Parts: sequence; C-alpha cells; structure tokens
Amino acid sequence: MVIWGVSALSHDASLAVLDGPELRFAAHAERYSRVKNDRLLNPGIIAEALVHGVPDAIAWYERPLLKKARHLRARQWTDAFAVSDLPGRYLRSLDLPFRVPDVVPVGHHTSHAMAGVATSGYDEAAVVVADAIGEFDTFTIAHYRAGEGLRVLCRQRYPDSLGLLYSAFTRRCGFKPNEDEYIVMGMAAFGEPCHTESIKRELIDVRAPGFRLRANVHRGIGDWLPDARPEDLAASIQAVTEEVMLNAAGWARRSTGSRNLILMGGVALNCVANTRIAEQAGFDGVWIFPNPGDAGSSVGAAAALYGKPVEWRGPYLGTDIDRTVEPDEIVRVLERDGMLALANGRAEFGPRALGNRSILADPRTGPMKDKVNAIKGRERFRPFAPVVPAEHAADFFEMPVAATPYMQFTVRCRKPDELPAVIHVDGTSRVQTVTARQHPLLHSVLTEWGRRTGVPVLLNTSLNSRGEPLVNTWEHATAFGDREGVAVL
Ligand SMILES: [Fe+2]
Repeated sequence: MVIWGVSALSHDASLAVLDGPELRFAAHAERYSRVKNDRLLNPGIIAEALVHGVPDAIAWYERPLLKKARHLRARQWTDAFAVSDLPGRYLRSLDLPFRVPDVVPVGHHTSHAMAGVATSGYDEAAVVVADAIGEFDTFTIAHYRAGEGLRVLCRQRYPDSLGLLYSAFTRRCGFKPNEDEYIVMGMAAFGEPCHTESIKRELIDVRAPGFRLRANVHRGIGDWLPDARPEDLAASIQAVTEEVMLNAAGWARRSTGSRNLILMGGVALNCVANTRIAEQAGFDGVWIFPNPGDAGSSVGAAAALYGKPVEWRGPYLGTDIDRTVEPDEIVRVLERDGMLALANGRAEFGPRALGNRSILADPRTGPMKDKVNAIKGRERFRPFAPVVPAEHAADFFEMPVAATPYMQFTVRCRKPDELPAVIHVDGTSRVQTVTARQHPLLHSVLTEWGRRTGVPVLLNTSLNSRGEPLVNTWEHATAFGDREGVAVL
C-alpha cells in the first residue's frame, strides 16, 4: 500500500511517500519551484513522488476544519471562510494523473509527534512537541508506547504559544518571522539576557510544565522595549525559551519515567535549547527527527495513517543526482581552492545540508568564514557548522550526545584555535558527525583530509545563495558554481 503524506497550504510544503514501512521519498516543494518556503505543491515534486507508485491513500498533516475554527477564533475571516484550501479540493485542483483517494486528516501535533515516533526506533518514549501554531495546540507533552500510541499528558492551546512568542521576537529583531528564527538564535550569543525578567513580567508566565502568555503576540510585539539592542532581545527570548523547554523535558521525564525523549515541532530546530535538554533533562536518548517542523509533518501524517514504525535509513530522500565522484578528487580541490560545492546523491529532507547539497570548506582559517559568508550573502556574524567523522568528534568537541548526524546540537569546541571558521562567538559549534555507514563519501573525504592536514574537520554549509532554496539538481548546482566561481563536484 502506497501512502502519500502531504504538508501544504501554510508554508514549506512537502510530500512524503511510504510504501509499506519503507520511506521511499520525501522532499520540499521549494526545491523544485525555487520559491523559498513555497506553500504549494508543484508538478516537479509530484512527478518524482509518482515514480514510487500512485497513492492508495493520502494523509494530510493537520485537521482543516479545526484549523478553520482557530481562524475564526483569531478573527482571520478570509482564511476561516475560504474553501479552496480544503485538502481534497486543493489536491483535486492540481489535475493529478490519478483519481485522488480520500484524504485523511491527522492532527497537527499528532503529525509532528509521529514523524518523531515512527523514525526513532523507540518502543516507548516521552514526547514533547512545541511549535508556533497549527490548529489550536501549540505545546504538547505525551507518552508513547508501541501498541498503545500516544497518551497526551499536558497540552497548551492558542493563543498561548512559545513558537509565536519566538517569532514575534524574530520580527522585533528585524528578521522575517516563521523563517529567520535560527538567525535570532545565532544572534543571541552576541547579547546579554538582560530583558528576561521583563519578558516574564509582561509577555509570558513560565509555569512548569508549560506557560501562559500575558499578551496575544500573534501579530507581533510591535516595538516592545524600543531602546533595547536586538542582540539583547535575542539573548533574552532565547533564555526564556530554553527555560520553558527544559522545564517541559524535565517534567516529561518525571511524569513518564521514560529514559527516551522525542522532541518535535519548530522549536526543536533550536539547537541551543536541544543541547541544554540533552545535557540536563536526564534522558539517556534524545531523538529529534531531522525535519521537526511543519515540512517534516508529511512524513508524520503518512506514518500516523500507516500506524507502525517506518524504516528510517537517513534524511537523503529527495531528488537524486546520480554521479560518481572520488574522495581524492574532492580533497585535491579543497587543497587547491579551500572550498567547493558538493552536489551528489539524494537531496536532504530537512533544512540542513548534510553532505549531498553542501558547500565544503577548509575550517582552519578565519578569513574562510568571511569568504563563504560573502558568497552566500549572509550576515557576517553567522556561524558555520563543522562536519567531523564520529570517531574523531570527541577529540575536537565536548559532545553532549554520542552522535549528532543531523546538526541538532551546539557543542563546545576543545580546539577553537585550530577551527576558527566553524566556531561561534560563544565558543560553540553546531556539529555534524558522520560514520562510514551514514555517508561513505563524506566519511572518506574527511578521513583523507585529516590524513593530509592533521585536522579531519570541514566547514559544511548549505549549497544555495541568499534567499534561495537549497539547490536541487545538477543544473542548479553548476549555475551556482558559475555564478560564484566555485568548483562543483
Ligand atoms: Fe507545527
């Protein structure tokens, strides 16, 4: 039985294909349409999904009527009364080359939770989902047991939303809400959390295991504290977010007695908060699906409909660039140019480039960071991530978890002087660890690079220009290379 999971019509549309337990395909619509955070599906992504068969069933990542009720509650009249965004009607409007089967809606937080549960390998786990908004739920703590499913222990609803509060600060700091939250997290390291008490006094009442908002922040916080520095605001909202998430994880640990935690929702992209949870919440294992936000919910919705765990082999689930490239050749170009673009294999499902649509660079000099930032048109303060063979990770980094194959945690570097291009101002790095099994090519490249330079670490950042989705095809990659004067392999 082929099941499609679809997440669309809000932001970051995606499509996943399950064939029995096998996750055959999962991709982001933006990679095909080249429209960043595209909310709509397109012929390119649908054609690739159809290679794996016509769907017998389609799961939708949230409940549309409940969402409309929330639009009514939020006085968003246009959205509340629109009918073109009902999933069945929308999918039929796409002129698909098959009869659209019944579309099964799955709750927004259930989709988030099940993307984590179905890929975690855990029989039993505490589950924390925190995001901005779907239908009404914004914050859920649950206990999962195989055979029994999810039992919700704590739930908070719109307008109380940690994600909406973080997005309001994203806008207040001058960035785009629902997109640039990761920039605010990076900026936090440059500020002092001196407004934490003001945030708690005026905007959020932190009450373990959750919180209540003191103001409706759905439409932002205007110019709240107009004289405050954006860096200090970022540090302050980051501190509050970490406190809420750590409270939730600690409470989940005590309430469920579980040794395993599954963390999902857009807030699980906050790797600084994730790290504090991994270090301090008392769990043995923490699993975060590499695409924990709404885009990953196409997998969650399909998994919820399937009802059993899926076979998780990694996030390389999208468009295939089927080329052969030798590790030696990559290392030679790195030695010659200091950097290159690597576009090879299936595209990553999730916001991070993990070696198949990556820019790789020599991390041993500070100017390399400026050079890559200039090519990508990024703010100069933005840090880059290192990639390191798992067996060498502890030589360079204080690892809070055994492995971080999906760049979900920030860790302190033991040898910052050796890796200036991949160290943030606070001395941390968002590390990706690689084993030969996960990514044979990248592992070989790092091993050979380490043999020649003594440092088996490379800078790894996404292969795209500013404001552009990750490149998807070989043609996108070579266009990038021609434009920026970077070798593409
Ligand atoms: Fe969500």
